[in-house]
Amino acid sequence: MNHDNSFPSNTSQSSKSTGQQSARQVAIKVITNILLQQGSLSTQLARHQLDVASEHAPMLKELCFGVCRQYPRLNSIALHLLAHPFEEKDTDLYAVLLLGLYQLTYMNTPDHAAVNETVEACRILNKDWATKLMNAVLRRYQREADDIVEILETQPSVEFNMPKWLVKRFNKHWPEHLEEIIEASNTHPPMCIRVNESLVSRETYKEQLLDLGINTEKGEFSDSALYLKNAVRVGELPGFDDGYVSVQDEAAQLSAHILSPKAGEKVLDACAAPGGKTGHLLEKANSAGLSSMELTAVELESWRMEKIESNLERLGYSAQLICADASDLDAWWDGEHFDKILLDVPCTATGVIRRNPDIKINRKPADIDDLVIIQREILNKVWTTLKSGGFMLYATCSLMPEENEQQIQHFLANQEDAKEVALNSLAADLAVEWGIPVSHGRQLFPQANGHDGFYYCLLQKA
Ligand SMILES: C[S@@+](CC[C@H](N)C(=O)[O-])C[C@H]1O[C@@H](n2cnc3c(N)ncnc32)[C@H](O)[C@@H]1O
Repeated sequence: MNHDNSFPSNTSQSSKSTGQQSARQVAIKVITNILLQQGSLSTQLARHQLDVASEHAPMLKELCFGVCRQYPRLNSIALHLLAHPFEEKDTDLYAVLLLGLYQLTYMNTPDHAAVNETVEACRILNKDWATKLMNAVLRRYQREADDIVEILETQPSVEFNMPKWLVKRFNKHWPEHLEEIIEASNTHPPMCIRVNESLVSRETYKEQLLDLGINTEKGEFSDSALYLKNAVRVGELPGFDDGYVSVQDEAAQLSAHILSPKAGEKVLDACAAPGGKTGHLLEKANSAGLSSMELTAVELESWRMEKIESNLERLGYSAQLICADASDLDAWWDGEHFDKILLDVPCTATGVIRRNPDIKINRKPADIDDLVIIQREILNKVWTTLKSGGFMLYATCSLMPEENEQQIQHFLANQEDAKEVALNSLAADLAVEWGIPVSHGRQLFPQANGHDGFYYCLLQKA
């Protein structure tokens, strides 16, 4: 199937929020658009979540996340079952088939219901001609599932439930960590929260949760992290609306601990949305009894900018928010240098596949080269806004050395006034025991019951 730009007429890009459609109907739209590269899973879900009644929202999420998570396997099974792949104009039917296979393989839906719903979905799409085909394909899968899976199991994409090219890359760069990466990337991430230490200690908050029957474990690496044994809705977390706590992965929490903002400092968060780290930087400054840290947050996407605003509003902090391309200094920089900069650049997100499983569908090897160029441009330009003696923390949620240690290697080779410093240079009490040291910085791998995959390198300007 050639996933280019054309948009099928039956999947309108801006849909009305009727609240009238079934979770399956909306899931077909979301999956179709992802297959056609019309946006990420998170943007598609945000755009379409109001198309279903609120009680069906969890089912919509389960179907969409589930199909993306299992895509390499489901795709191989579907292609094995079909005599001819669907044409691009029938990508919606392919989405219907993937959803049917997902229900049959991974959900408790009775088989006959899954088959009937799949066939009915063809009619709703006004593609009655496909009902017989869909029925035959799913019935065959019901009969031969074990044999088919056995035949396909030798394919790396099926064995690892990951695109073949990604398995190859992981194996090339991290052969000793391959199993760990694959396992963690294929499991649901644990729910990790960040306690706002300017308002309550982690210990006290942990006890408050226990009183409510919510069991937690302290994060090993971030002093503010608590892992919930069982995920809960954020509304059940005491003080959530008043900023006592935020949902944030433990590895992501390390950014603010490493940069450790101090009184009177001028800090830049250069690629800021949705603002998880922006909020943490402000919390850190407050927990040191400071209020005079001046924070500027720059973000390219205006719709993502709104997320920073609502995040900060909940936490009760303010910052200078600028919607701009961080590498276009004329557009946003007033010439005042920063003491510290967090540069959490756009990346392949290969360390957080479990949170963005649509990466399994849409990420391509060429994205790495494209992103390396964008990162390089942002890094070089933003570096000029750092004052002499100032610190920049370069971060990605990628596992690709090209975006991480090699990017920094290239930067240091070309930037005479830059040097790498230890990750605990600004926080002597920070035990840097996470991930592994690499030629520059540290690489963290996703952990099945722990933190996400991340990369950090701290730089100082001469
Ligand atoms: C990895 S995310 C940042 C996550 C964020 N630091 C947090 O913790 O919530 C990268 C962000 O950079 C933004 N971005 C991409 N290119 C950019 C650019 N040229 N200038 C500024 N922001 C950019 C993306 O829209 C995205 O929101």
